[in-house]
Amino acid sequence: MDQRGAHGRQVEELIPATDRFLRGRTFGSARVFWGSVFHAIPEDMEDPLDLDRRTGLPDALRMLADKFPREIWETHPEFNALTRFWLDRHLMFRRLQGMLIEETEGFLDGRADARRYASSLSRLAGTFLNELQGHHGIEDAHYFPLLAARDARLAAGFELLDSDHHALDAGLHGLADRTNAVLRKPETAATEVLRIDLVRFRALLDRHLIDEEELVVPIILEYAGAGLS
Ligand SMILES: [Fe+2]
Ligand SMILES: [Fe+2]
Repeated sequence: MDQRGAHGRQVEELIPATDRFLRGRTFGSARVFWGSVFHAIPEDMEDPLDLDRRTGLPDALRMLADKFPREIWETHPEFNALTRFWLDRHLMFRRLQGMLIEETEGFLDGRADARRYASSLSRLAGTFLNELQGHHGIEDAHYFPLLAARDARLAAGFELLDSDHHALDAGLHGLADRTNAVLRKPETAATEVLRIDLVRFRALLDRHLIDEEELVVPIILEYAGAGLS
């Protein structure tokens, strides 16, 4: 199979994988929930805790984050292998995003030809989308329910993270569409649209990962692993 054929097959696989994942999600009522906890948010107003607006966890969710600052996590006796593995997954997502942006800018700057760029984009985007979808699924189904049950004061934080996942899923869907558009026809205009989308998504995901880590790791340290295995 020539290079174009190989790319075509991966493009076809990328879209159904994303759609299957998105169809399995139900869009919850995190907005209503947060409105009842912190402040009444009329439906037509933008929530300052939305992923694209907030600048960190609200004070009401920082009691353990302040007790266990990031600098002491790895030397704490309850910092275990699973926590290390989970943080390493976050690191991998950050690296994959950096590589995707770097490859895209390289193509736009004329440092890579279309064929090489398409090959890298297909491989990196496929890995990023699939791995991040799987990661969200495990957190939603397994980690978050256990962690939320450990400390009722922080249960609302997991509603916030769930709301983030929905926002990120919508972003992933858009990224898959723009990636496929570039893979079909790697023109400058479509590639620039993808670059802008990648940079915007990196900011959203980074906000989510930081807040998630500052909610989850302190619970694990406070509650001796929090029952995760
Ligand atoms: Fe997450
Ligand atoms: Fe995560």
